[in-house]
Amino acid sequence: MANPSILILAGDGIGPEVMTEVKKVINWFGAKRDVAFDVSEDLVGGAAYDVHGVPLSDATMAKAQEVDAVLLGAVGGPKYDVLDFSVKPERGLLRLRKEMDLYSNLRPAQCFDALADFSSLKKDVVAGLDIMIVRELTSGIYFGEPRGIITENNERVGINTQRYTESEIERVARSAFELARRRGNKVCSMEKANVMESGILWREVVQRVHDEDYADVELSHMYADAGAMQLCRWPKQFDVIVTDNLFGDLLSDAAAMLTGSLGMLPSASLGAPMANGRPKAMYEPVHGSAPDIAGQGKANPIACILSFSMALRYSFDLGAEADRLEAAVEKVLADGVRTADLLGPEGGSPVSTAEMGDAIIAALDAAL
Ligand code: NAD
Ligand code: IPM
Ligand code: MN
Repeated sequence: MANPSILILAGDGIGPEVMTEVKKVINWFGAKRDVAFDVSEDLVGGAAYDVHGVPLSDATMAKAQEVDAVLLGAVGGPKYDVLDFSVKPERGLLRLRKEMDLYSNLRPAQCFDALADFSSLKKDVVAGLDIMIVRELTSGIYFGEPRGIITENNERVGINTQRYTESEIERVARSAFELARRRGNKVCSMEKANVMESGILWREVVQRVHDEDYADVELSHMYADAGAMQLCRWPKQFDVIVTDNLFGDLLSDAAAMLTGSLGMLPSASLGAPMANGRPKAMYEPVHGSAPDIAGQGKANPIACILSFSMALRYSFDLGAEADRLEAAVEKVLADGVRTADLLGPEGGSPVSTAEMGDAIIAALDAAL
């Protein structure tokens, strides 16, 4: 049987830098654990624009539809800020999400013990934290019509539309309830039903799906603004949070700081099962292309490495290998190995992106 296939789209800025470390990890699993993948690489974002004049070519889109999993680095950067909106690097990423129909975006926020002191919150607020934000990823205000900039009464008007169908809400709710059953069995749904009709529908549908099929899971509802506050006040009250595309974008960046750094947060974007039973899937760190540190060997590769770990778990049914990789990351952090983003104002001596990758490989070897 052919090996499972992975398409790597490293993208821009620190994307290729962190992806180099992920490739070391993929090679390690091939060499040492007999877990081999057919890996191919292509362009996305500004890197694709530079070659093809578009942030994602049709050929790359077609490849992404065929592979078992896509691994994406990051897209965007100041060089591309001047481009027309339709060809901005971020449009390439949004096209992948939309056309692969990756409606369920899993963004875990887990606080590694070794980093509990480093969070901007008090240690006892974050120590042992393990929550999962499920962000709806293919609809809502990111994609709703009408949209655009029009002229009305001699001035310009910017328009975006929040729009959710019942079935879009239902499928992401199901994904959150299913996940909760395998974790702490609690779901908190966040919207703004107090001011938005789409929020009223969201709340109704999540409640109905719960009552019909997931009554064993504890469900609560919260307004998203209050949710943001509770996330900072006492994040350990949550297990799974399910929310829409925009609120999920904001809440997951906030959750990143609970864990210490944006450089630590992985994500999985999952769609419906393919013919081989695996979900359509793309794995990517939550962070962006970090233009402020790109090209300097400073980026933390852990978010991207943990995204590959999520691929092992969610696409390839290799939970034990994912545990092995996560344990190696934990060991390296416990040993005090730190990229610059994991050092506080008091400083210390940071390792480079490559040194962090090498330390994780060494920890994998040591645990064999
Ligand atoms: P960003 O996530 O790129 O950076 C925010 C801050 O976090 C920066 O100070 C950066 O240095 C730091 N940071 C991020 N990742 C890090 C890592 N791995 N190691 C160490 N430090 C890290 O967000 P931004 O600055 O708002 O956006 C920059 C560009 O990235 C924009 O073009 C934006 O659209 C794009 N972006 C892309 C994605 C993606 O590809 N998924 C996500 C977010 C932002
Ligand atoms: C993310 C990013 C993207 C988003 C951008 C780059 C399109 O911020 O993945 O969180 O807004 O979804
Ligand atoms: Mn974001």
